[in-house]
Amino acid sequence: METIAIASDHAGLELKEDIKTFLKEKGVDTLDMGTNGSESVDYPDYGIPVAEKVSMGKIEKGILICGTGIGMSIVANKFSNVRAALVNDVYSAKMAREHNDANILVIGGRIAGKGLAREMVKTWLEAKFEGGRHQKRLDKIREIENSIKESKSQRVSGS
Ligand code: RB5
Repeated sequence: METIAIASDHAGLELKEDIKTFLKEKGVDTLDMGTNGSESVDYPDYGIPVAEKVSMGKIEKGILICGTGIGMSIVANKFSNVRAALVNDVYSAKMAREHNDANILVIGGRIAGKGLAREMVKTWLEAKFEGGRHQKRLDKIREIENSIKESKSQRVSGS
């Protein structure tokens, strides 16, 4: 069974703990990357390590939670190979996997209640990427990532 990396800031802590409990009950292992206290922290400090792991292929999926989910999704989507989807409803959670092949699910701890959050996590984990025309669209996003990488390496090499 795959392990899911999970992290939050202080505003998402309570929901993170509940999602961990839920996943444990379902037999899914989690790698908790913080935060673990209620003091105010900066969401990038917790989103970055999860996004890095997913970006480098060290872990397949992650879950990030902050107050609205907005900050975490902005951070995570800076990383190549990361497709982070901020969801606030079950339909979006399903589509995030089926159409977008989202590898990080982002939830607003001050937006979604625990029941809804559990349902969104379950739906996202059980849904399957449909490929086909959706893969073609993801390929276009990959092309952007590749062209950014290329222009960076050209600047470094001075060509
Ligand atoms: C923290 O107050 C809050 O700004 C943060 O959790 C998040 O919502 C940012 O997008």
